[in-house]
Amino acid sequence: MNQEFAWRSAIMHCIADPTDVGPDNAYEYYEDGLLVVENGRIKALGNASDLLFSLNADTPIEHHPNALITPGFIDTHIHFPQADMIASYGEQLLDWLNNYTFPEEQKFADADYANDVAERFLKELLRNGTTTALVFGTVHKTSVEAFFTQAQRFDLRMICGKVMMDRHAPDYLTDTPDSSYSDSKALIEKWHQNGRLHYAVTPRFAPTSSSEQLHKAGQLLQEYEELYLHTHLSENQKECEWVHDLFPESKHYLDVYDHHQLLSERSVFAHGIHLCDLEYERLHETGSAIAFCPTSNLFLGSGLFNLAKAEQHKVNVGVGTDVGGGTSFSMFATLSEAYKVTQLRGENLNPIKSFYMATLGGAKALKLQDKVGNLAVGSEADFIIIDKQATPLLTTRLQRSSTIQDTLFALMVLGDDRAIQATYAAGRCVHRRQ
Ligand code: GUN
Ligand code: ZN
Repeated sequence: MNQEFAWRSAIMHCIADPTDVGPDNAYEYYEDGLLVVENGRIKALGNASDLLFSLNADTPIEHHPNALITPGFIDTHIHFPQADMIASYGEQLLDWLNNYTFPEEQKFADADYANDVAERFLKELLRNGTTTALVFGTVHKTSVEAFFTQAQRFDLRMICGKVMMDRHAPDYLTDTPDSSYSDSKALIEKWHQNGRLHYAVTPRFAPTSSSEQLHKAGQLLQEYEELYLHTHLSENQKECEWVHDLFPESKHYLDVYDHHQLLSERSVFAHGIHLCDLEYERLHETGSAIAFCPTSNLFLGSGLFNLAKAEQHKVNVGVGTDVGGGTSFSMFATLSEAYKVTQLRGENLNPIKSFYMATLGGAKALKLQDKVGNLAVGSEADFIIIDKQATPLLTTRLQRSSTIQDTLFALMVLGDDRAIQATYAAGRCVHRRQ
């Protein structure tokens, strides 16, 4: 797409972490802005009055006077095979895995099944304005083949990996240290850094991998450049006790992963609710990130993530929906629950910080901030058009809103997929609301 295209609307994006520079210095907002895209990248961003004159004479301009353009959302933890088992009743983590999750994941041995779910899953993400995600597959190679094949059709920047799991799960869902190594390796060779795709080495969590398998995971990370490590950490109390029993020589839960060389700038640990100071310190030292998954943490009764503590220790934090433990694909719904989690901890999450975590902060957690996460010139043109009049209630509520902070906050609390008018990836429209 070599031609220049322009979108005129209110435009907002983050340029820094509000925790470092204060909320007011962390974003740019153009009430009547212009976003210019060429060749799938951002060519210019600014006030319409400053930029309109510089456009080529034949540049198409879409004007959205009742919208807000922002970067696409970044979901730092989600399971594509769990899309259809979302909203499963009545269990905490370990029973939920055994009763609902494992039987569902068994179905992904079938390539047609996996393809169908992968396509619907990606469409659901795009309907909700999420353009990049760090995604769990299942133990089956076919699941990740299906996911990457579908993601490539939309030319999305996506990260996925095959689950490594060699114990404490049904036989139909386990691999071995050797087969998990060779299957992951084959997927890496085919898909890692193929277009906009990246591979994540994905041991499910410490209880379902032997030490030998975790060692293989570490070996893969050594063998290839810029691979991700994606797993779960300290989500549920019973899980933590189990890890303590399984790895009695480890200082703490994170130490199990550390011992196998799994901590790095591209390591993302979902949840991290029940951590000690040493664990926060080690996450910080290694540049690892936590995916904060509030809807899941509340739904599975796992606990309240301590964002203030993570900030004190300067740990990178992104936001994850964690579907199907999480209850919504919507980043608005997820940020609304994040706010409530901080309320229950006696703090209140600033809306700019929330928005940062779902965009540029997520990109930083994934070391993708040079490519996506904001609308800086040169970035890939992954952005969304948010309809401020998507519902009668949003319309009246936002008419009262006199600041961008308040607009964002009301969108988070009241918004859902209806507010996502269109989603663009690399400058191409990949979803338009009917
Ligand atoms: N821990 C291990 N596996 C899972 C999973 O599938 N979902 C969640 N939320 N936690 C896990
Ligand atoms: Zn998860």
